[in-house]
Amino acid sequence: MKAFILDRYKKKGALRFGHMPEPPVRGDDVLVEIQAAGLNLLDSKIRDGEFKLILPYRPPFILGHDVAGTVVRVGSKVGQFRTGDEIYSRPRDGRVGTFAELISIDKADVALKPKNLSMEEAASIPLVGLTAWQVLVEKANLRKAQKILIHAGAGGVGTFAIQLAKHLGATVATTTSTANVDLVKSLGADVVIDYKKDDFSKDLSGYDIVLNSLDKETLEKSLRVLKPSGKLISISGPPDADFAEAIGASWFLQQAMRLLSFGIRTKAKRRRVSYSFLFMRANGDQLSRITSLIEAGIIRPVMDRVFPLEATNEALAYIETGRSKGKVVVKVR
Ligand SMILES: NC(=O)c1ccc[n+]([C@@H]2O[C@H](COP(=O)([O-])OP(=O)(O)OC[C@H]3O[C@@H](n4cnc5c(N)ncnc54)[C@H](OP(=O)(O)O)[C@@H]3O)[C@@H](O)[C@H]2O)c1
Repeated sequence: MKAFILDRYKKKGALRFGHMPEPPVRGDDVLVEIQAAGLNLLDSKIRDGEFKLILPYRPPFILGHDVAGTVVRVGSKVGQFRTGDEIYSRPRDGRVGTFAELISIDKADVALKPKNLSMEEAASIPLVGLTAWQVLVEKANLRKAQKILIHAGAGGVGTFAIQLAKHLGATVATTTSTANVDLVKSLGADVVIDYKKDDFSKDLSGYDIVLNSLDKETLEKSLRVLKPSGKLISISGPPDADFAEAIGASWFLQQAMRLLSFGIRTKAKRRRVSYSFLFMRANGDQLSRITSLIEAGIIRPVMDRVFPLEATNEALAYIETGRSKGKVVVKVR
């Protein structure tokens, strides 16, 4: 099958468009004919070698973490999916590879695609949708009338998280550039901080939760907007010891991660707030709940551009500019 292959880790290195064997289908797997694949900065970071310690993929392998497509075969232990089902997924770590014609995915990572979305729109959802779900619902336990600051509201995670937070009944503040103020308002943001003109850490206070996806400076300034017992949750690092333990990291790596987050944890403690890092996980059940929200019209995808599969390297370069509005997807067939 045709695929975009990483032959060796290299910063900004191009993926090779070549051929790989069709993936084997285990008892718990569904084989999916890929119609569209969503792009994420995680693809770029893995290609650059930044995740080698956490996700030790051995080249050559296929990149790509989001997929929408059609089930063409099911394993012997699969009951809930059938040939012909239209599905979407963020396959689990260790089994990614959606920049290709086919992928074999564990049934536990799969959900039926929202009926009201095109394949391209559906492929834009899983990784960012699950990230927002796991931060807001699982980790933050966001409730009605709480206040949350979601950084980078115009990005992939931000556009989804704003809508989910509004659905959960929270008051939502977000940061964005002037060009995207209207977009984040249209998604439901109550308070919009245009970072070109204003400093969020001066304008906001008394917040229950901050979702950080930006740099260290933003992370540290975010402490100031939280009220005592508030939660600072970061998806862009630094990792903490709980995360290291959750992924079964070695003692050495656990200590390294503890050290990396020592500064922010100490500063958080001084302000009587908590700091935690979250790295999203594949989860078909949560994705099914996201399907329901999308079919009910509560959450909609925000699409920036669709590239042809052949232009996957160009599509990655485009998201690496950090300026994409919502999601970028490649159309496979
Ligand atoms: N840990 C996890 O599980 C996990 C999961 C998903 C993502 N992530 C990470 O989270 C980060 C965000 O991911 P993403 O997919 O949402 O990225 P993205 O879609 O590429 O984000 C692009 C957006 O960021 C906005 N932005 C850039 N600089 C900003 C600033 N200083 N203030 C406010 N907005 C700013 C841009 O809006 P403007 O053009 O208006 O500036 C743009 O719309 C990445 O580092 C990604 O790797 C982690």
